[in-house]
Amino acid sequence: MPASSNRPRDPFVDWVRQVTPYIHAHRGKTFVIAIGGEALTDARFPDLVHDIAMLHGLGIRLVLVHGARPQIEARLAERGARMRYVNALRVTDDTALACVKEAAGVVRVEIEALLSLGLANSPMAGVRIPVVSGNFVTARPFGVLDGVDYGHTGTVRRVDRHTLRALLDQGAVALMPPLGYSPTGEVFNLSAADVARSTAEALQADKLVFLLEDEEVRTAALPPTLLTGEVDALLDAATPLPEGLGKCLRASAEACRHGIPRVHLVGRSGDGALLRELFTRDGSGTLVSAEPFEELRAARIDDVAGILELLRPLEERGILVRRSRERLETEIERFVVAERDGLITACAALYPYADEAMAELACVAVHTQYRAGGRGDRLLEYMERLAHAQGITRLFVLTTQTAHWFQERGFAPAGLEALPMARQALYNFQRNSKVFIKRL
Ligand SMILES: CC(C)(COP(=O)(O)OP(=O)(O)OC[C@H]1O[C@@H](n2cnc3c(N)ncnc32)[C@H](O)[C@@H]1OP(=O)(O)O)[C@@H](O)C(=O)NCCC(=O)NCCS
Repeated sequence: MPASSNRPRDPFVDWVRQVTPYIHAHRGKTFVIAIGGEALTDARFPDLVHDIAMLHGLGIRLVLVHGARPQIEARLAERGARMRYVNALRVTDDTALACVKEAAGVVRVEIEALLSLGLANSPMAGVRIPVVSGNFVTARPFGVLDGVDYGHTGTVRRVDRHTLRALLDQGAVALMPPLGYSPTGEVFNLSAADVARSTAEALQADKLVFLLEDEEVRTAALPPTLLTGEVDALLDAATPLPEGLGKCLRASAEACRHGIPRVHLVGRSGDGALLRELFTRDGSGTLVSAEPFEELRAARIDDVAGILELLRPLEERGILVRRSRERLETEIERFVVAERDGLITACAALYPYADEAMAELACVAVHTQYRAGGRGDRLLEYMERLAHAQGITRLFVLTTQTAHWFQERGFAPAGLEALPMARQALYNFQRNSKVFIKRL
């Protein structure tokens, strides 16, 4: 082994190497990022905008959608008025619309100013980012519902994807207010979540990101991953979600059902929260994705027979270590399964070693009839998020025949001594499995 491998590792160099795959993966991709108007009232908002500018610098095609709720409410209060809500929907009268227009204008200018900053010694030194706003959204009135006229509150009718694409092709950042225009020349007050979702769908964006209020995210205690069905269940649950979060979750599920592969919900105020979500497998955010396959879920005791049926042929071929039914029953809470019409189509198990912040990923298996369709990838991603949420920083596998599959997914070969002592003691030398570790 070369002597250099014994030198202490430089955390900076390690860090750059860790983010490099994400930089490659994101370049040229289209992200729609939605920010609530609350963000602007935060002293750290410039940092967030600078992080967004950095994404632009890395070649990501960006559309920013902003809300303006506190700014609208402040203007209404100055006029001695308030926004009226019926069935959690805004009723926008003439006074409210005037405030919406003013607030949207001010927010837009402030964001543009921050994206124009180019002073030496600032993170944006020497950078020039063209920012373009416009009448990209055609809207229609929400209309009258149960006798209530919602006035200038509108819904998105279509988004001008051709103009937006042309702007993104030229390297501009598109900035979209929560406003829409109708062919009759009217202006409508829209929900920023609705604008962001519709824009992501129109552009077939690679990601839709909602930057949320931390308070709302904390209250809801969202898990690290959600499938669209799980989002529906949360929205239908008896305990109502905070309003802003509910809107974004509804928009997330809809976006996923209309072809957006990933929607991220991120608490905005943690320093660099957006960067962590996009460049690491950080568990602070929640990833919403569609259900192209069977839903993954925690295994239950009545899944034992199905898991055994899936694992037995692999155990007989020596691919997996044999597990008795009794052992499986006692360890069932470690398993995650995918089920399709009563058949267990995939499973995996996580055995944490909390002292070392490590976990063993075991029993990774996809039913033979369902292989090579990306289920293995999705199972691995799910297990990694699950591990990360438990504070695990390194995931290891012991494998005899699947080394390349894990290596191609970021696992690196390691010696037995890299495993937790308790796991080393259980190592079966006769089986001679190879050890692979992945940093999360
Ligand atoms: C490994 C396994 C979980 C992958 O599941 P999957 O749903 O087929 O995975 P994906 O669709 O995400 O990936 C398929 C890719 O993995 C490759 N692959 C499958 N088994 C592999 C192996 N043993 N070694 C290397 N690559 C393998 C396929 O060739 C395919 O690659 P390609 O698209 O370039 O041809 C599945 O093949 C399986 O259950 N194998 C038996 C159990 C096993 O080995 N588990 C690991 C125990 S440590």
